[in-house]
Amino acid sequence: VPVGILISGRGSNMMALAEACADPAFPARIALVLSNDPAAAGLTWAAERGLPTAVVPHRDYEDREAFENAVHAHLRDAGVRLICLAGFMRLLTAGFVERWTDRLLNIHPSLLPAFKGLHTHERVLDAGMKLHGCTVHLVRPEMDSGPILVQAAVPVLPDDSAESLAARVLAQEHRIYPLALRLMAEERVRVSGEACHIRDG
Ligand code: GRF
Repeated sequence: VPVGILISGRGSNMMALAEACADPAFPARIALVLSNDPAAAGLTWAAERGLPTAVVPHRDYEDREAFENAVHAHLRDAGVRLICLAGFMRLLTAGFVERWTDRLLNIHPSLLPAFKGLHTHERVLDAGMKLHGCTVHLVRPEMDSGPILVQAAVPVLPDDSAESLAARVLAQEHRIYPLALRLMAEERVRVSGEACHIRDG
């Protein structure tokens, strides 16, 4: 299954997905790595690995819709069937999300539906949470919402900083994103209302 990965920065989740896809037995392959930021470090890594890359600088477009039409055209031309958002820092309009319903995945650094939005690790520490984690979900128009595919939990330790906690969560992100992509590529996911049901492989 051809996959498009949308990034804006470092791209460590993209790297984890690309490494999974490098295994010929994995049911997905990277058809495109696209960034809205020409300076995204992940782009260089992808290009060096010979992965197809594209840059769609959002500032070059008059509005969100024009930007998203350009992104959509790149994805379509690359033959993309599933999209993984991986640290992609632009909110997508309902129009774009609906064109890709149940084929658009996101990873978020919290146990959704808790802690939607930015700065999750700081907010988890401030709230005195003892558990934290990450979520891969299907994207719906409302930010950080949609049927949950996979989650992983980590402990919050007494001496944690936002950085140490982020690193512990990120290690789990790199594990569960390829897992969720595999489930989707193998068509083992049935969406029913607000939830995903996963068939055994
Ligand atoms: C990850 O923590 C992701 O969950 C969040 O932003 C971070 C992106 O990191 N949305 P990377 O670019 O994948 O390294």
